[in-house]
Amino acid sequence: MADICSPIGFFDSGLGGISVLKTAFELMPSENYLYYSDYKNAPYGEKSEDEIKELSLAAAKVLYDRGVKAIVVACNTATSASVKMMRDSFNLPVISMEPAVKPALKVEGKVLVLATPATVSQTRYKKLLERLDADGKVINVGCSGLVEMIEEGRADRESLARYFSGRLDFLKKEKLDAVVIGCTHYSFIENTIKEYLDSNYCSDCLVFDGRFGTARQLKHVLSEKGMLCEGKKKGNVEFLTSGSEGLLETYKKLFNTF
Ligand code: DGL
Repeated sequence: MADICSPIGFFDSGLGGISVLKTAFELMPSENYLYYSDYKNAPYGEKSEDEIKELSLAAAKVLYDRGVKAIVVACNTATSASVKMMRDSFNLPVISMEPAVKPALKVEGKVLVLATPATVSQTRYKKLLERLDADGKVINVGCSGLVEMIEEGRADRESLARYFSGRLDFLKKEKLDAVVIGCTHYSFIENTIKEYLDSNYCSDCLVFDGRFGTARQLKHVLSEKGMLCEGKKKGNVEFLTSGSEGLLETYKKLFNTF
């Protein structure tokens, strides 16, 4: 049975959700955290909605079985496919992520949304755009292969420029004003993305990343339910993976340096 200082569980297909974990840790340093990366089944963003649903439920179950007090779906792709089912399946708060299109639309002008191919094609995301009346203001790009580049440490400035030059060419001389980081992996290369966009499409691209909203929402939900673990001591952060043990050191390093 979970108590108020039981860990908060986070999951993603790989290292991406560590960006959300770190943001939550900075906001609530005395909480305990358990992060699960389903690396064996990554990338989620190139799979069918049914496959993503099944994998996300199984990943959430790993955390649930470890006695977490809440689950954060630190993955836009998994949220889109399965957050509803997860809320029905687990009797604890489930906090989710979605591309931060709403705040980005407050900016005058064009918004580029970069996310996985699955996220931009799923019904939940399309409904969000409809609700926000985003037609004509948002340009969606499903970035096939980018998650793998980040996982493998191949997303340096030159490689990213090569990657984007083919995929964003269709924008031609279009002027952009903002970019939404719609995949938690991309947070790790946010500055490089901005640099590329600034030299090609924006004068000073505003960057919107849903991880801040998700961390705030997590705090709000825990506080409303009287489930905040408060104290002076720093909380514990533990990592788990369905991939090889060796990844755990990489995750710790990434968490400490992000
Ligand atoms: N980090 C995940 C997201 O936010 C996607 C990773 C993947 O495609 O596996 O969508």
